[in-house]
Amino acid sequence: VEPDEVWAEEVRRLARERDAVLLAHNYQIPAIQDIADHTGDSLALSRIAAASDASTIVFCGVHFMAETAKILAPEKTVLIPDARAGCSLADSITAAELRAWKAEHPGAVVVSYVNTTADVKAETDICCTSSNAVDVVASIPADKEVLFCPDQFLGAHVKRKTGRENLHIWAGECHVHAGINGAELAERAAAHPDSDLFIHPECGCATSALYLAGEGAVPAERVKILSTGDMVTAARDTSATSVLVATEVGMLHQLRKAAPEIDFRAVNDRASCRFMKMITPAALLRALREGADEVHVAPDVAAKARASVRRMIEIGK
Ligand code: 13P
Ligand code: SF4
Repeated sequence: VEPDEVWAEEVRRLARERDAVLLAHNYQIPAIQDIADHTGDSLALSRIAAASDASTIVFCGVHFMAETAKILAPEKTVLIPDARAGCSLADSITAAELRAWKAEHPGAVVVSYVNTTADVKAETDICCTSSNAVDVVASIPADKEVLFCPDQFLGAHVKRKTGRENLHIWAGECHVHAGINGAELAERAAAHPDSDLFIHPECGCATSALYLAGEGAVPAERVKILSTGDMVTAARDTSATSVLVATEVGMLHQLRKAAPEIDFRAVNDRASCRFMKMITPAALLRALREGADEVHVAPDVAAKARASVRRMIEIGK
């Protein structure tokens, strides 16, 4: 028996023993994606966590995702295989900074990306993910000011889509996505003129892609700004035979599984999130054996954050 199969058997056995459901984000390494009960984007995984019957959720992703699961299901045990798996985007705004920003805009509606700490969510009116950010902002009456945090590129995308002038954007970014730049994208697109472009809205190059389309350098219908989950759906629907993918490289695994006949290539193959990759096969095994690392959110913070996260999972269903 192969060592991988021994590991997989042990993971499955321990998960059954703990009555645990295994969730994996699309950026996890292939072995973790393949062993999980569900693989998906932030929104899909939050919905599954909220609806699951299992008494334990093992979240193979980064800390804010596991925290969101705990906020939605406080009675469940939530484990993350390595609690040090943080997120540079979530770290780009603190609750104190958000409170100060709110004080400058009294009456504004706060929309926070799910990539935030529980403390920031507790100061938020509605959370969103990349797959429903536009719908969330569109659901707010047009005369209300909106504070959007923390991602500036997703904020710019939402502003473009909604045409909303009273949307203020925090200047945060994800170091992995911000690093996928417009020059690189233009060069790749020129070398592969028939490819679709699948671009995550956190990317620094999202604006450049629309610019390329506007200039006629790439046909507009080939440029798709998508969440990671929506990329999988688009891969099944496209008539293209090759796709350039601008997001974290872990995404390529689900895309290739969804459409094996398509040639998927990373726009930047160094775009790897070191936090996502902290969830190793050994770390998952340890989490199941030891019941660690357990995720806790203070009950008063969780209660405040729950309202904004519930709105997020209701909008754009
Ligand atoms: P989605 O899976 O919601 O598209 O989010 C991407 C991301 O960067 C999460 O860290
Ligand atoms: Fe955070 Fe960026 Fe990693 Fe996603 S890819 S978890 S936004 S650091």
